[in-house]
Amino acid sequence: MARSDTSTRRRLRGRAAERRPEHLTERRAKPPIIELRHATKIFPGGHVALERVSLRVDRGEFVFLVGPTGCGKSTLIKMLIRELAPTEGEVLIAGRDIATISNKKIPQLRRRIGTVFQDFKLLDSRNVYDNVAYALQVIGASRSEIRSKVPDALRLVGLGDKINNFPDQLSGGEQQRLSIARAFVNHPPLLLADEPTGNLDPETSIGIMQLLYRINRTGTTVLVVTHDREMVDKMRRRVIGLADGRVVRDQSAGMYSDDENTTEFGLRLRDEMGLEE
Ligand SMILES: Nc1ncnc2c1ncn2[C@@H]1O[C@H](COP(=O)(O)OP(=O)(O)OP(=O)(O)O)[C@@H](O)[C@H]1O
Ligand SMILES: [Mg+2]
Repeated sequence: MARSDTSTRRRLRGRAAERRPEHLTERRAKPPIIELRHATKIFPGGHVALERVSLRVDRGEFVFLVGPTGCGKSTLIKMLIRELAPTEGEVLIAGRDIATISNKKIPQLRRRIGTVFQDFKLLDSRNVYDNVAYALQVIGASRSEIRSKVPDALRLVGLGDKINNFPDQLSGGEQQRLSIARAFVNHPPLLLADEPTGNLDPETSIGIMQLLYRINRTGTTVLVVTHDREMVDKMRRRVIGLADGRVVRDQSAGMYSDDENTTEFGLRLRDEMGLEE
């Protein structure tokens, strides 16, 4: 009898497993690319920059992080690449608590996370091609890899015809596109952009957002910090809002179709923001 009980239980367990919704099985197999668990950051001197922040970002998402100046956005970004460590709580990347990664292995983590900053951080003494090539050289890429990947990245951002220019021979928008090419050249699974349009005019900002959106369509998860609430609301993507170091808003993607392509997206944005074609 005991034996048949066991086999009945096994059969039932088997059925339960079959019934488990697909997305739950999926989620167990692939942890979110970003997860914060009650992450708090208190700077020396006592300023609480982040307070018990919990959030998850799944692979392939496009997420905006918004909030007033000083609310902790850059602090959060810096914690994701372990430039800062949380005072309490955990920061996980692809399921791994990054506090447990040895210092020696931190460069490996950062190789898998592209970063774009407002001030571009370009190398002024190197031309466009070399600025991107350098990002690959430092991670030990072979020459043939560099020769094939750099032109692709520059074409993607629309700088294919400016490879010999130096940064001071580029417009602000072009410099930002160059910094995006550099962040993306290695096709990282995660791209973080901290106010990538902060110094740019609205028209150029839309171009940058379109570019980040195009990168997201290749499968890269994109997290964009911005002050530009109007742009964010119009893009109808997931928005996480911070205020005084706490999450005060987490709104999922809006209504428009996921099938919208880059051109349609650009047209809609221009239209909704009242910009001329
Ligand atoms: N190294 C530091 N030491 C002490 N306080 C800091 C440090 N870095 C940031 N802060 C403080 O922590 C708070 C959050 O800073 P953070 O740079 O994350 O803000 P932010 O949301 O990115 O602002 P902004 O939109 O102006 O870039 C601010 O009050 C800031 O003054
Ligand atoms: Mg900031």
